[in-house]
Amino acid sequence: MSKKIITGVKPTGSSMHLWNLLWAVLPFKQLAEGNDAAIFIADLHALTSVKDGEKLRTQSLELAIEYLSIFGKNTPITIFRQSDIADITKLMWVLTNVTPYSLMLRAHSYKDAEAKNSDINMWVFNYPILMAADIIGYDIEAVPVGKDQIQHLEMTRDIARAFNKTYWQQVFIEPEAIVKKEVETLPGIDGRKMSKSYDNFIGVFDDEKTMKKRVMSIVTDSLWVDDVKNPDTCNVFSLIKIFGTPEEIAAIWEKYRTPNIEFGYGHAKLALLDILQRYLAEYRNTRSELLSDIPFVEAKLAEWARIMNARLEAKMRILKEVVGVN
Ligand code: TRP
Repeated sequence: MSKKIITGVKPTGSSMHLWNLLWAVLPFKQLAEGNDAAIFIADLHALTSVKDGEKLRTQSLELAIEYLSIFGKNTPITIFRQSDIADITKLMWVLTNVTPYSLMLRAHSYKDAEAKNSDINMWVFNYPILMAADIIGYDIEAVPVGKDQIQHLEMTRDIARAFNKTYWQQVFIEPEAIVKKEVETLPGIDGRKMSKSYDNFIGVFDDEKTMKKRVMSIVTDSLWVDDVKNPDTCNVFSLIKIFGTPEEIAAIWEKYRTPNIEFGYGHAKLALLDILQRYLAEYRNTRSELLSDIPFVEAKLAEWARIMNARLEAKMRILKEVVGVN
């Protein structure tokens, strides 16, 4: 049975890297198959971290283009900008009325932020209510969540239930969580797990020069070109194993294990670079095409915004009737 699913990503300007691609973006693309899936650029959520209008606008568009590049120009997934949806904040306001203060005080995100900084702003406190609106406003049935978002989804369910109970009507669906299976880590160029915060990542959309620089600087041991090497402990080979074809993996493994041939880590890195460039080629080509045809992207976003606005409007008609506002 096809389900309505949604996810949101904040346009914080960080580049999408290989780990994001493998463990967030492609799994969502796969989950979307056979379902009615939407992903939105959570610019209203990002207001808290991007305090520069020009920057936020650009980053939002760039992020939409990145997703469109990976999902494909004819993707059935609806990609939209949160702030294009006129009534989303009105829905949030109505939901605020049925959200217990005590529930909000229990949010980990708020408690953590407060522990670190006593002068937090109201976004930190209110954000789970906007997140609830992002979900229940469109009758979403399931939301893929990582561990950090499980509690927020639970709060979404609480808020939906509180509304239905307060008004004695089944206006909102309580969405279920699709908890992502434990994700694996990927080695970054310094050998620690690939992560934005370590700045050790290989970006999906890095230009060729940057990608080459990053790949060539992957940390290895210091064995010589003609030494036998251990593929199982090599960061370069770990990546080859994930992105290469079975034939490439087998051939390179053989070279690691054969003594007295001229195959050093430099060669392995160049092989990895080729493999990555091939693996990412389609995404990168689509992105360049989109970047040179912004009107196409804008038209897509406008069409998707129209669809999602219509969905929320249908819900808002019921909601306004039930609560007695226009
Ligand atoms: N809170 C999510 C995050 O920080 C982003 C988000 C906002 C979201 N609204 C959502 C995710 C609705 C799923 C559904 O990553």
